[in-house]
Amino acid sequence: MPSTTGSFFPLFCFLSRCAVSLSQSICKIAASRQKHTLPDLTYDYGALEPHINAEIMQLHHSKHHATYVNNLNVTEEKYEEALAKGDVTAQVALQPALKFNGGGHINHTIFWTNLSPNGGGEPQGELMEAIKRDFGSFQKMKEKMAAVTVAVQGSGWGWLGYEKETGRLRIAACANQDPLQGTTGLIPLLGIDVWEHAYYLQYKNVRPDYVKAIWNVINWENVHERLQIAKK
Ligand SMILES: *[C@@H]1O[C@H](CO)[C@@H](O)[C@H](O)[C@H]1NC(C)=O
Ligand SMILES: *[C@@H]1O[C@H](CO)[C@@H](O)[C@H](O)[C@H]1NC(C)=O
Repeated sequence: MPSTTGSFFPLFCFLSRCAVSLSQSICKIAASRQKHTLPDLTYDYGALEPHINAEIMQLHHSKHHATYVNNLNVTEEKYEEALAKGDVTAQVALQPALKFNGGGHINHTIFWTNLSPNGGGEPQGELMEAIKRDFGSFQKMKEKMAAVTVAVQGSGWGWLGYEKETGRLRIAACANQDPLQGTTGLIPLLGIDVWEHAYYLQYKNVRPDYVKAIWNVINWENVHERLQIAKK
């Protein structure tokens, strides 16, 4: 686990916390009886080039994300059956699949809106002020987030999140399968997907280059909106 540095400390997802949050997020997911759907992108698959190429975007959205959605739908159906039968063993056995597919669906739904062909540049207003207050500068925030994200072992995500109790921004990296909010209490504002499916076809094993390039397509307006909603 990396150590605490200055005003910044990465929040990691500890298993003990996961256990507590798990039942809540699963109940929430299982209680929603509608089928989940793959959200449309508001831009074309090729629109983020040269930073993220069309082939990656197409596979990532139409295959990887779609698979999470389909598997979430199937798992929820089974879960509802198990609930109706009062079959606790079956309910428990379905929890990893709910967590994995539910988490994947939530994360990717945020991720697509965090990106834009008109992205890049610098955040404005309240978001920029909060970044400066909590990290010193925009540049420092990017450096910290990139470092933490690049360091994720195996598959995972780097996040910029809002901590409601303190009103501060935090950076977190999670290598396990729990959604951010359930495990860290952070409300996700910006996520960087560093599963290989997010970059391998273009960047091969050079994850740092992908993380460096992604700043050019970050939709800071979306991150700003998420901050405003999180603060309510
Ligand atoms: C939900 O998942 C089912 C598979 O159980 C799939 O057939 C369906 O297309 C999915 N619904 C949507 C709207 O994607
Ligand atoms: C979703 O994000 C959380 C928080 O970073 C992470 O732990 C989890 O692995 C992600 N799930 C998937 C399926 O990508």
